[in-house]
Amino acid sequence: MNDAESRNRYFDRLFTNPELKWLGQNTNHLPMHPAVRQALHDAIDDESFHAYAPPLGLESLREAIVADLELPGQAAVVTDGAVSALALACRAFCTAGSGFVTTDPGWKWPLQFAAKAGALITEIPIYGPEAGYKLSIDALRAATDANTRVIYLVDPNNPLGTTYTAGEMRAFAERARELGAVLIHDCTYRDFADSHTLAAGFYPEGTVTIVSFSKWLGLAGLRLGALVAAPELLEKILPHSQAPLGASVIAQRAALAGLAVKAEWMAQVSRQQRANQRLIADAFGRLPGFTVPVFPSQANFIVVECVDAGITPEALVSALGEHGIMIRQGSYHTPRFGHRFVKISTTVPPAWAQALCDVLPQAVERARGLPATAALY
Ligand SMILES: Cc1ncc(COP(=O)(O)O)c(C=O)c1O
Repeated sequence: MNDAESRNRYFDRLFTNPELKWLGQNTNHLPMHPAVRQALHDAIDDESFHAYAPPLGLESLREAIVADLELPGQAAVVTDGAVSALALACRAFCTAGSGFVTTDPGWKWPLQFAAKAGALITEIPIYGPEAGYKLSIDALRAATDANTRVIYLVDPNNPLGTTYTAGEMRAFAERARELGAVLIHDCTYRDFADSHTLAAGFYPEGTVTIVSFSKWLGLAGLRLGALVAAPELLEKILPHSQAPLGASVIAQRAALAGLAVKAEWMAQVSRQQRANQRLIADAFGRLPGFTVPVFPSQANFIVVECVDAGITPEALVSALGEHGIMIRQGSYHTPRFGHRFVKISTTVPPAWAQALCDVLPQAVERARGLPATAALY
C-alpha cells in the first residue's frame, strides 16, 4: 500500500472511532457556542448552500476577519482552512532556486509546498533552552540573504507554544523588508496567546497573515481559514488561486457567528484550556524523567519531553492509543528533534484531560516494552 493510502487508513481508523479522545491535532473539542450551533442549523435549514459563495468569501465575513485582526486597509481571502491559504501563498511566492526560511520545529506542510515549487528550504533550529525555544533576530539574520523570497513564521509556534514580543516581531519584519522577502505569518494559534503581535502591523506591504477557524472556534472538519494581505500583494497572490468557486457556505456562516461572540467564547475556552495544560503537566511532573519545556504554552497544546524518561515518543503514542487517546509524536513536526518529545492538545473536555492523567503511569510502563517503530502519521 502506498503511503497516502496507509495515512488515510490511519486517520480513518481514528475518525471512525466515536470514543476517541483527540489530544493530538490541536483541534477544539469543547462544546460549541450556542450562537454557532444556531448559525449552522440556520445554514442547513435555509438551504443557501445550493449556491456557491462569492469567490473571495462572504463580504461580511471578509470584513469581520480584517476587523478582528485590526488591520484596516488589508483584505481577506476566505479559504478551505489555513492550509489552503498557506498553499496559495506558497504557490504565489515560492519559485525554483529561491530561498524559503522557517523554524525547526514548525509546521511541515508549507515546507512541502515550497519544496514542490523548487524552493530551497532553510530550517533554523529553535528547539532547546539555548534558543529559548524560539527564533531570534540574530538567527534569522544569519539564515537569510538576498536570495530569501519567503520567511514562514508559525506564531505561536506549533508544537512549542512560544510567541514573540512586539520588539522581536518588529525586528523580523524589518529583516523581511530589508530583503524584499514575503513574511508569511501563520497565526493559526494566536487567539490562545496572552498577547500577540501581528507582523503586518510593521510590514503591511509584505506580510501575508494566515488565519484559521479550526482551533479557536473548533471548525476543523468544516474547513475554513483565510489569508489576509494588502490589496497590492493580493494582486500577486490571487492569480494562483485554485478556488474560483469559493469556500463552504455553511462553514462561513458558522465563522461569522463565531467572530460575533469571540471575546466571550475565548474567555471560556482559554480558562478550560489552561486548566488542562496544568493538569496534564502536573501528571507528567509526577513521573521521573518527563519535563514540560514551555509552560504555560501560548497555544492549545504542550510539548512534553520524554527522552530522559527512557521512553520513545512513538511508544508512548501507541500505549495511549490502546486507551483510545490520541497524542502526537514529535517526529510529525521535526525529524531533527522529534525523538525528544510528544505533543498533547488541550482544547478538550476536562474529562478527556483527566482520562489521560489517569492512565498515564500505566501507559508509560507499557511504553517501555513497545518498539519505537509504530507506523504513525
Ligand atoms: C501552524 C498551522 N498552520 C495551519 C494549520 C492548518 O489549519 P486549518 O485546519 O485551518 O487548515 C495547522 C493545523 O494544525 C497548523 O498547526
